[in-house]
Amino acid sequence: MTLVRKLSAVEADKLTHHLCRLSLEERRLRFGHGVSDQGLADFVQAIDWSETWAIGAVDGQDLHGVVELRRAGAWWTGAAELSVSVEGPYQNQGLGTRLVAEALLVARNRGIRTVFLLCLPENRPIQRIAKKFSGRLTMVDGDLEARIQPAQPTPLTVMMELFNDTRGIVQGVLEQAAKAPAGSGGR
Ligand SMILES: CC(C)(COP(=O)(O)OP(=O)(O)OC[C@H]1O[C@@H](n2cnc3c(N)ncnc32)[C@H](O)[C@@H]1OP(=O)(O)O)[C@@H](O)C(=O)NCCC(=O)NCCS
Repeated sequence: MTLVRKLSAVEADKLTHHLCRLSLEERRLRFGHGVSDQGLADFVQAIDWSETWAIGAVDGQDLHGVVELRRAGAWWTGAAELSVSVEGPYQNQGLGTRLVAEALLVARNRGIRTVFLLCLPENRPIQRIAKKFSGRLTMVDGDLEARIQPAQPTPLTVMMELFNDTRGIVQGVLEQAAKAPAGSGGR
């Protein structure tokens, strides 16, 4: 079963393996240019986890999709950039949309006022997703840019994020328990 939950820095290897499973074309669409496996490992190594939230679609030990939300510039500018990737066999099932929605909830609850999503003009699937949240895409230096403006946080949106976090933890624990050999919990 695929769980959607926040990732932590100790799960950086999962992120590298996910990105390395993307095809060359998917890497080009994700990063705007081709990236080697080593380039992807360097990219993950350089992530500043204090300024980045990563939410993944996790199945067992594997990550099949991820959205990364990074603060852009100083914190007081209230800006962040969002990037998302979903592996081929998991695409077109609503996962990309769900990941973006969860990242926007995190952005909203952090008081982020503008979330930028950049993509290549030929990348129709991400434009379709961006339009669900933003409506308008503009051409900036040859790329298409969506500016999504999350509303102010409310107690309800904070509760929703807390609920998502708790659900992720509980589902993960139940999954581990179901996989454990029968009787392994006893003395
Ligand atoms: C972009 C990406 C994350 C989408 O993931 P996904 O799980 O397939 O996304 P969803 O299923 O939620 O939505 C995809 C939408 O694109 C639409 N779509 C798919 N192929 C399309 C095409 N060729 N032309 C137009 N729309 C298309 C789908 O119908 C769907 O729209 P709908 O929800 O209105 O039906 C995935 O394709 C991917 O990882 N691509 C490579 C990396 C990338 O491009 N990242 C974005 C740059 S940050």
